[in-house]
Amino acid sequence: MYLINSVQVEKKDFIIPVENMGVWRGDGVFEAIKIHDGYPFAIDLHIERLARSCSKVFFENIDYEKIKDDIIFIANEHEDGYVRTLILRSEQNSHDIFCFYQPPISISQEFSLQTQKAFWQSGGDYDLESTFNIGTKSTSYGMNISHTRAAEQDGFTDALLVNKDEIILEGPTFTFGWINNNKIYVPDLKLGILDSITRKYLIKFGVEKKLTVLEDRIKISDLDEIDACFVLSTAKHAVPVFKINEIEYSDHDLITEIQNVFTEQIRTERTN
Ligand SMILES: Cc1ncc(COP(=O)(O)O)c(C=O)c1O
Repeated sequence: MYLINSVQVEKKDFIIPVENMGVWRGDGVFEAIKIHDGYPFAIDLHIERLARSCSKVFFENIDYEKIKDDIIFIANEHEDGYVRTLILRSEQNSHDIFCFYQPPISISQEFSLQTQKAFWQSGGDYDLESTFNIGTKSTSYGMNISHTRAAEQDGFTDALLVNKDEIILEGPTFTFGWINNNKIYVPDLKLGILDSITRKYLIKFGVEKKLTVLEDRIKISDLDEIDACFVLSTAKHAVPVFKINEIEYSDHDLITEIQNVFTEQIRTERTN
């Protein structure tokens, strides 16, 4: 199912000119929403982040209610998979909104990660209020994907991005979390990482579901001290990492617990 500016089109017409700024400058923003039996999980948080991203990159006059309706419309037609929404700057300095269904993708159930310095990643102590475009979910993903490819070439599932001081940031398309002494940790947002929806949920679970979830920082040199670690995203509700570089990890009950809490959360939200 394909929509351009809320109008349904055939796949053959779901196209944009190369001159579109989204194509040659990555001048756009996007969201990916997971469908669970026709239900678009966390849609309001995704719409909120989309609106934040739009305002950070100066897209104006966007009808978010309409986008939400489009996402629900597509999601309702499918059991599983994703709805993707992209807003791209057109040649005339206006924008177009693309919304489409993406079938389920196969995701490794065990991750091996290779740490890689992401020179272009902020990774500093940024003030979230005054650094205007920090955390934008922009379509400029070329650098992220190059890290994934480099890690794959070395036989790893994906990359784990670190800053110049070797502090762990995030994956090219996921949040990283680690477990130590039965506490769950995620990196803090001042590092410039994406304000991930599933990370937000995990922190909320820390408040509501008796998990201990803390924000902290960890360096490559500390990775052999932790008990377990996992990747987290809209597509991956906590997948265990069994290896980072040469360090091996086992699965952990708390990772299963996080998965269960997500499943329960989705069930509760669907029935409300
Ligand atoms: C760079 C990056 N970090 C984290 C995430 C996880 O974000 P979310 O939980 O909103 O899917 C993503 C998801 O695409 C991402 O691209």
